[in-house]
Amino acid sequence: MNNLKQASIQYILNNQAPSGAYIACPNFPTYHYSWFRDGSFIAYAMNLVGEHESAGRFHAWVADTILKRVDLIRTVLEKVEDGLEILPQDVLHTRYTLEGEDGVKEEWPNFQLDGFGTWLWALHQHHILAGEELSQNCLDAADWIGLYLRALWPQPCYDSWEEFPQDVHTHTLAAIYGGFKALVNLGFESYQIDADQVQAYILEHCVYDGYFVKYVGSFTVDANLLGLVLPYQVVPLNDDRFKKTIERIETSLLKEGGVQRYPTDTYYGGGEWVLLTAWLGWFYAESGLVEKAATCRQWIETQANPDGELPEQVPLVLNDPNYYLPWLRQWGEIASPLLWSHAKYLILRHVLK
Ligand code: BGC
Repeated sequence: MNNLKQASIQYILNNQAPSGAYIACPNFPTYHYSWFRDGSFIAYAMNLVGEHESAGRFHAWVADTILKRVDLIRTVLEKVEDGLEILPQDVLHTRYTLEGEDGVKEEWPNFQLDGFGTWLWALHQHHILAGEELSQNCLDAADWIGLYLRALWPQPCYDSWEEFPQDVHTHTLAAIYGGFKALVNLGFESYQIDADQVQAYILEHCVYDGYFVKYVGSFTVDANLLGLVLPYQVVPLNDDRFKKTIERIETSLLKEGGVQRYPTDTYYGGGEWVLLTAWLGWFYAESGLVEKAATCRQWIETQANPDGELPEQVPLVLNDPNYYLPWLRQWGEIASPLLWSHAKYLILRHVLK
């Protein structure tokens, strides 16, 4: 199905704002913003398919958005140094308008650190894949984000699903680790010590009975734990703890071909996520399990509508069907096309090649 590849690239290009920001989903009012988390994977996918100019415009937009907020970063660094409590208004937002302004219309949980690590990782990948020197703006912004993460990573924050603010999340730490490693590889060698600390912390605190868990003190898994290996490489593909984690993800979250987020998810009833199915496929492909990866790809292709749009999730097997209708009434039909879903599909296509 070559069309879905082309459709994915086209949806992404069509929904990149003149500023360079990628909107999360054009048809879902609540997602009319750009998240660094989504956008970084989208930019990476665009690099993989040769759309370097698009990826470069996104990174330039992120850098500008960050550099406009250097005063806020300076203040929060001072507060951490003085041992003061970090308040919601002290932190960088997690999503921005397409013009790079804070999204202030609705209440939103903003203290999420994973997207910044993901951005550093994707910026370094852009440098490699586009084969170009990064602008001074991008490098300066990257260093500020490094300082920000260095100060804040031990604190509990909202996870990649924008939930559970009281916890320290394994996937968030993995993304931060990937971010520090990217900085080192970009020449900011002082962040090696931070990468080592985060990695040691994960291995000591985020493992229970030989497998990685959703957050410190948890006994359960989340499909976002895939990030430990791909792309952040906290542990190698064949790590025993990671293999046991994958077994648990397969047993408790893989439902009729699609992957759910975590066992008690209730968002739109907690269905199967396209981007997570692609993420699992990415892992299978890199592990040489090509048939399993191809099955993930086929499942995703079956979920596309006739226009080639991929949704955020599919309500086929729901964790708790009681929650489907309330979300539908609150926010409307499930977000589609979700650009992050298309990006992960492109990544899976690329590794399967
Ligand atoms: C997801 C986030 C995502 C955002 C925009 C939320 O529902 O939980 O991970 O960044 O949507 O796609």
